Amino acid sequence: MGNKEIVVSGIRPTGNLHLGNYFGAIKNFVKMQETSQCYFFIADYHSLTTHPTPGDLQKNVKQVLIEYLAAGLDPEKATLYLQSDLPETAELYLFLNMNAYLGELERVTTFKEKARKQPNNVNAGLLTYPTLMAADIIIHKAAKVPVGKDQEQNLEMTRTYARRFNNMYSKDYFPIPNAYNFGEQLVKIPGLDGSGKMGKSEGEGNAIFLNDDPKTLRKKVMRAVTDSGPTENNQKKPEAIQNLFTLMKVVSKQDIISQFDDMYNDCTIRYGDLKKQLAEDMVIFTEPFREKISELSANEDYIKKVMNQGAEKARESAQKTINEVREIIGFRKYH
Ligand code: TRP
Repeated sequence: MGNKEIVVSGIRPTGNLHLGNYFGAIKNFVKMQETSQCYFFIADYHSLTTHPTPGDLQKNVKQVLIEYLAAGLDPEKATLYLQSDLPETAELYLFLNMNAYLGELERVTTFKEKARKQPNNVNAGLLTYPTLMAADIIIHKAAKVPVGKDQEQNLEMTRTYARRFNNMYSKDYFPIPNAYNFGEQLVKIPGLDGSGKMGKSEGEGNAIFLNDDPKTLRKKVMRAVTDSGPTENNQKKPEAIQNLFTLMKVVSKQDIISQFDDMYNDCTIRYGDLKKQLAEDMVIFTEPFREKISELSANEDYIKKVMNQGAEKARESAQKTINEVREIIGFRKYH
């Protein structure tokens, strides 16, 4: 700990992890936990904007935690916690909201998108999503926030709110955090439906989940979109075919990939064989995840322990900040 760089990122408790999540983000989280002081939390306060039932909420939070642990997040290296176990975040959110303005919040793209998607539920939590996100980040005085491109505007808001607080009260109290988007290390994983990236909202069968059983997985891969095959030697691969090769690149051995590449180039390739190979390599690749997920799912006590331990570690840093902030603002310190 000590003077390591502080990293914070939030994870939405929605659905299961797929290969796109794994190669796009989690693998890098797993790397970062080795060198930085990482706080990774499950954003369950945020998820209330869509009004989940208590049962669904609990189930999703637990499943997401289990899958992140199975994917390699280590509670001994990173601080893994549930956002709702840190009421200090909610308190800081309240303070930040006093200096957040309707006009700027209404202009946020993710707000506009969500307002369009759920026109009958444009609640204040949705509007103030960026102030809660800012609180998540600055409660630990983060320097770096690994997020996808779609979150960069929200992160710009965090920087604004941190600066605003500093200007109003105490020049350099909050460090101004930077978005971090992995640059070169970011592997974009395509889906199985012929175009675009892997995602769970792209329809059934587009994404391979870490938790897919081999039968489901094989079925999805065998149904992947292809075409009628190359007609000329060394022809450029159309997107759907290139996608299958890109997927192979992350799960198959290089000599196997070269073999299929050669067969594509001399027009002897059979897509059925390519898919069979890809499916088998995916089954092998996902096997340890599946095993870990089922092992963790059966170990209620361990999951509870991880949650408790994470909450305790996160609170240490959050309480220090909230006490200082209260004093800066003019309130009594708690301790
Ligand atoms: N908004 C992020 C997303 O939709 C999740 C999130 C919430 C987050 N709070 C955060 C990410 C703080 C980074 C830091 O994916």
